Amino acid sequence: MRICFLNGQFVPEDEAKISVFDRGFLFSDSVYEVSAVFNGRLVDNRGHLNRLQNSLSEIGIASPYSNEEIIELQKQLIEKNQLENGSVYLQVTRGEESARDFLPNPSTPPTVVMIPQHKDLTVNPLAERGARVITVPDIRWAKRHIKATGLLGAVLAKQAATAAGCDDAWFVEDGYVTEGSANNAFFIKGNTLVTKAPSSQILNGITRQSVIRIVEDYDLVLEERDFTVAEAQAADEAFASSATMLIVPVVAIDDSIIGDGKPGAMAQKIRQTYIDMALANLLP
Ligand SMILES: Cc1ncc(COP(=O)(O)O)c(C=O)c1O
Repeated sequence: MRICFLNGQFVPEDEAKISVFDRGFLFSDSVYEVSAVFNGRLVDNRGHLNRLQNSLSEIGIASPYSNEEIIELQKQLIEKNQLENGSVYLQVTRGEESARDFLPNPSTPPTVVMIPQHKDLTVNPLAERGARVITVPDIRWAKRHIKATGLLGAVLAKQAATAAGCDDAWFVEDGYVTEGSANNAFFIKGNTLVTKAPSSQILNGITRQSVIRIVEDYDLVLEERDFTVAEAQAADEAFASSATMLIVPVVAIDDSIIGDGKPGAMAQKIRQTYIDMALANLLP
């Protein structure tokens, strides 16, 4: 039985219950973060917590804890669950109120939840064979830089990908790829690495930012810019990044095979470097 954190207490998962009046449930009035855990240690966690504070401030929820306090709670969660490999999910909602009212009461205390997930993220069949993605219209809201829990767009995209016999979906807006359903999208052509520049159109992934730092040492030129589906389809390699998928090669986009249809060597190298750095505690 897992131990979860709920509003200041560590409780068994079957006792971690939230009211139907919680604004996270009623309005998706909440934000979240997911940090990977390798060998009992949090990966890229500083970046995730900084982004959490930013998401909270963007939607006007007073932060319930400092980063240091959250880290302490995350560590306790990891210890209580003997979590070696997996992730810690953290969600903050605007809290529970006595009625369903769009206008929040500013004095409502937020709901804070942490859930551990046991899973060795370094072992992933998709990383071995490469992901096939479809493209779908980006129907999501306009503030995607906030890591909000209103994820219906991602759910529908994943469903569409599965229905098409594929692994994931990339969103397309105004003719350009924005990002993956729950990850950032990249391609490599020659010695150029292309990914969309951060803006309110995408979530600026913490893993994305680490990938960008990693390739500084590589013989690659980074271009943060808009790109079309056709450009990515004509690439030598493509890949996606997130805290839980790490770096996963993409081998097909819609009906186009990327490169020779096998995971790209550079994507695999970036993935391995990311894993090595995480294991060496170089991504705190
Ligand atoms: C829409 C979206 N973009 C990008 C990412 C990748 O972000 P990170 O690398 O911080 O996990 C996620 C992660 O869930 C996401 O949901």
